[in-house]
Amino acid sequence: MKNLGSYRLNNHWVAILLLLGVSCKTERRSTPNFTNGIGLTIIDPHSYANFKEIQTKHLSLELDINFKNKTIYGVARHTVINRKARKAIFDIHGPLIRKVTTGPKNQEKEVDFIIGKMDKDSILGQPLIVSISPETKYINIYYQTTQQCAAIEWINTKSKENPWMYTQGQAILARSWIPIQDAPSNRFTYDATVKVQPGLLALMSASNPKTSNKSGKYYFKMDKPIPSYLIALTAGNIVYHPYSDQCGIYAHPEIIDKAKEEFSALPKMIASIEQIFGPYAWGNYDVLVQHPSFPFGGMENPKLTFVSPSIVAGDKSLVSVIAHELAHSWSGNLVTNETWNDFWLNEGFTVYLEHRIMEALYGKAQSLLLSEIEMSELVEEMKTIKSSKHPEDAALCLNLKNRNPDDGMTSIAYVKGAYFLKTLEHKVGQKKMDAFLKDYFKAFQYTSISTKNFVKYLNEKLLLPNYVDFNLNEWIYQYDLPSNCFTEPSALLQQVNYLANATNSGIDVFAPKQKFKWVEKKKRRRIIRKKVWYTEQLNPKIYNTQQWIIYLRQLNPTLTKRALDRIERYNHFSEANSELQFEWFMLNLKCNNWSIAPKIEKFLSATGRRKFVEPLFTLVLRDSNRLGWAKRVFDATKNNYHSVTQQAIHALFQKYH
Ligand code: BES
Ligand code: ZN
Repeated sequence: MKNLGSYRLNNHWVAILLLLGVSCKTERRSTPNFTNGIGLTIIDPHSYANFKEIQTKHLSLELDINFKNKTIYGVARHTVINRKARKAIFDIHGPLIRKVTTGPKNQEKEVDFIIGKMDKDSILGQPLIVSISPETKYINIYYQTTQQCAAIEWINTKSKENPWMYTQGQAILARSWIPIQDAPSNRFTYDATVKVQPGLLALMSASNPKTSNKSGKYYFKMDKPIPSYLIALTAGNIVYHPYSDQCGIYAHPEIIDKAKEEFSALPKMIASIEQIFGPYAWGNYDVLVQHPSFPFGGMENPKLTFVSPSIVAGDKSLVSVIAHELAHSWSGNLVTNETWNDFWLNEGFTVYLEHRIMEALYGKAQSLLLSEIEMSELVEEMKTIKSSKHPEDAALCLNLKNRNPDDGMTSIAYVKGAYFLKTLEHKVGQKKMDAFLKDYFKAFQYTSISTKNFVKYLNEKLLLPNYVDFNLNEWIYQYDLPSNCFTEPSALLQQVNYLANATNSGIDVFAPKQKFKWVEKKKRRRIIRKKVWYTEQLNPKIYNTQQWIIYLRQLNPTLTKRALDRIERYNHFSEANSELQFEWFMLNLKCNNWSIAPKIEKFLSATGRRKFVEPLFTLVLRDSNRLGWAKRVFDATKNNYHSVTQQAIHALFQKYH
């Protein structure tokens, strides 16, 4: 970055600079939020952008991915709607700004810019304030990403065949690799020219190539307006398998065969959700199996969902993640939360839709089982939240001002949100509920919506016309789960509940049992009865993954090592799919069975999914004797974690020691 001194600053800018004490460096100061000083009207609590005055309508990206330097060299060309603004404010968090110009490509004129101070907790990053005229239509930002780029994960950068990189934008990480107005209520279309080393395939949340080419040059287009957090990029040794003209799967060649079997229900899922909530709006829908370091189970990047390979279970038992990300094509991508305070409008609706897809494909009992698992998480997390510094996080509508929006990613948004809709559905009937949601997605398509406006729409379109009285305020603004919360038990629960109770009371339910039966035989024209002995053992395959999760969660933390070993011998949970391994390791840690540690270490080095990594480290760190182990393991694994997971674990180390 050039020194501020080298810019041609007019008086207007000097005045602002003096007022703000604006600095070019990214040092942290304990001064109050700098925006207090400039008289900016903050439109979104997590963005500096002045997008009411001037707004990106189209973003044209030129990106050069350099694995050797772990750097993207980029130009972000913003075509804006300018309502007579003299400054355009973008969000940045990390990227180095090389120069800013205005005007159409090749007729550009360099302009002044300043970079404001970092907020005190380094959550928002910095405002990039560009000096423009009220007529400016094109703003071009030349930049490069830095090592501190929070969105990008670089993998195997030295390898010729298998380097890999990807970005994660949600919630406010897009600004770390593109200078943009990074607020979910700000939508624009985009296109991109991407250059990567020849032989690799680059993909984005846009129209995508199916095969790699020798030039390493790719062109992408997203012609529907999307919120900034949904821009995504990945490049690596990736191949494609189509299921139909509309959908298919991308993955590393090593896992493509397994993955294409695993997710073969995809076309049916699309058909089932379209039938209820209206046509899929985005053209193609593909799934990319991301690198194991991917910090989430799935991420709903438009046209190209990213999923963790940890859901490739081998028996299709974890496909609800695909149903979930697909559902975001309606809730979240088509109709988006206005700010991160309204996150439940994204996730609560999506979990509700996910369950509808799962019900259509696998039956009511199975979808109720998923709800049951989620409810048990909600109950636990509610307790934690209510005794925390922020009990107000137990409400659906959040206030995350001055906090990291990731703090809102709790089961309140997901599960309480979904139960809000389930309860509403129970009250008004499924037919009316479906019609209402279908209209809602249509009415608000390609826009963002606040909780307040949703409530207004709900009252007008569903509650008042049907004379339905519903405790909306209690559901949305209060902390407890309302007493009218509608739950249904799953028919698949009873037997595992019985098994868990028996295990807890010391019975070895899995031991082979000697049994006999009477067999009748003909002997010399006489019929004789004979006692035949045989052994019988419960077949673990008669229960599915979700049933076993519920079983494991119900076991007491007082089980002995002997009892645990018995369970493991019967059903090898430490070699099962990722969800079961996780539950199993958690249980063993709660029961203080430290002999499990090497297996946990192996698991922690094979996945970077925060949902698994964070709770495991939390349990380990609660015992101060394990600090050395935790440090050693984190040192060995952290380079396989995306910054989202790395930061969560860093915070744990700070909290516990
Ligand atoms: N959009 C979320 C992931 C997310 C939320 C990333 C907030 C960053 C900030 C995605 O749709 C999601 O919810 N993923 C879940 C899986 C799902 C089946 C509940 C996950 O990764 O655990
Ligand atoms: Zn989601």
